[in-house]
Amino acid sequence: HKLLLVNGVNLNLLGKREPEIYGHTTLADIEERLIARAAQHGIELICIQSNHEGKLIDDIQYHGLLADTALQVDAIIINPAAFTHTSVALRDALLATQKPFIEVHLSNVHAREPFRHHSYLNDVAVGVICGLGHLGYQMALSYWLDSLYSVTI
Ligand code: DQA
Repeated sequence: HKLLLVNGVNLNLLGKREPEIYGHTTLADIEERLIARAAQHGIELICIQSNHEGKLIDDIQYHGLLADTALQVDAIIINPAAFTHTSVALRDALLATQKPFIEVHLSNVHAREPFRHHSYLNDVAVGVICGLGHLGYQMALSYWLDSLYSVTI
């Protein structure tokens, strides 16, 4: 059993970047906690982050479309960051994998600038979590644990 956590542009700076908006938790903290929690249930969580749209797409294609289907990820948790509002290519890559995904944002994008209100992904996501800070990632993991692997949460 495998899940994929994808973080987009600038999220390598979490903890240092506008902490009043994005909090003090670093990406390494988030990833470590999620990896540990998934592992408790025998699930491997693969974590990727890039500031490069094409790199994210390469990695999503790789993990979603591995020739040995048993090695493919079952589902995805993605915070595309600013690519949310710009990337048709990321949407198409996610659709190409046919893997279900949850879109996560640390901040409540609907309470911010109008250009953050539109997402190229949200109509094809299973669900969207925003405004709950780093706990949003935990909630997305809880959802996959429950719905894919019948883990009682
Ligand atoms: C974000 C929201 C985006 O609008 C922004 O560009 C980010 C982070 C969030 O997690 O709140 O970089 O995805």
